[in-house]
Amino acid sequence: MGGGIAQVVAASGRRVSLHDEVAGAVERALGTMRRSLEKLAEKGGAEPDEVLARVSEVDGLVPADLMIEAVVEDAEVKQGLFRRADETLPPEAILASNTSSIPITSLAAVTARPERVVGMHFFNPVPVLKLVEVVRAVQTSDETAAAIVALAEQLGKVPAEARDFPGFVSNRILMPFVNEAAYALMEGVAEPDAIDTIAKLGFAHPMGPLALADLIGLDTCVAIMEVLHEGFGDPKYAPCPLLRQYVAAGRLGRKSGRGFYEYA
Ligand SMILES: NC(=O)c1ccc[n+]([C@@H]2O[C@H](COP(=O)([O-])OP(=O)(O)OC[C@H]3O[C@@H](n4cnc5c(N)ncnc54)[C@H](O)[C@@H]3O)[C@@H](O)[C@H]2O)c1
Repeated sequence: MGGGIAQVVAASGRRVSLHDEVAGAVERALGTMRRSLEKLAEKGGAEPDEVLARVSEVDGLVPADLMIEAVVEDAEVKQGLFRRADETLPPEAILASNTSSIPITSLAAVTARPERVVGMHFFNPVPVLKLVEVVRAVQTSDETAAAIVALAEQLGKVPAEARDFPGFVSNRILMPFVNEAAYALMEGVAEPDAIDTIAKLGFAHPMGPLALADLIGLDTCVAIMEVLHEGFGDPKYAPCPLLRQYVAAGRLGRKSGRGFYEYA
């Protein structure tokens, strides 16, 4: 997600500093960005070299006008990052999170600029999908929300605003659907292909819920269900045991080569 976000921001003419704590991760992201930009260039998109020249790898947080955080879906990791960002970025900078479900209010609370903390939730694959869910924490100012709405529009996206309740709007609706599909598989109601075909042809979805879960990452799906479960205190949001089992086995979806399906 971080690479996809860097790509669309750089394509809009802005300079981007990209950081990942794991060595080689940014290099891999730059490779994915180049392949995506080459495909887009065939359809009249910007010159890949020109866009990539605006992206540089940095070894840690650096001063900037805006941070868009897209690290693992773990509240403690994100809070630690927001604390450090608050120390490093200038006080007027906006600190945004691409989190799928972690309360923005809890990220704003660890900073000295809670009114300049906001959710900027992109969708996968970022260069293709138009939606940006702009999530306002309790503390987010009108100016901050307006700045992120304007930025999303400048990136060629369509912003939609939501308040900071568990799963916001998108994952409150999507993730129980994915979880229920995993239950249907676990209970032997149908094979994965049949479950996905039913959703694709029956509901006119571009991909079925199990293929989508593989794209999102099964670890991320479990993490989001846990946030919904804890946030609402309702057992209907408990992550499906089959999802947990796959994650424990390292079957995380596309990124690990196997989830509900196998990938070359
Ligand atoms: N996968 C999706 O479809 C999707 C969609 C929308 C939002 N999101 C959100 O985006 C975020 C990232 O998701 P992803 O699927 O790209 O996850 P991912 O596991 O593919 O990537 C996370 C990256 O963060 C890096 N990282 C972890 N801790 C770090 C730290 N402290 N500092 C710097 N880098 C660190 C990891 O090395 C890894 O490369 C999550 O919050 C997720 O909920 C994901």
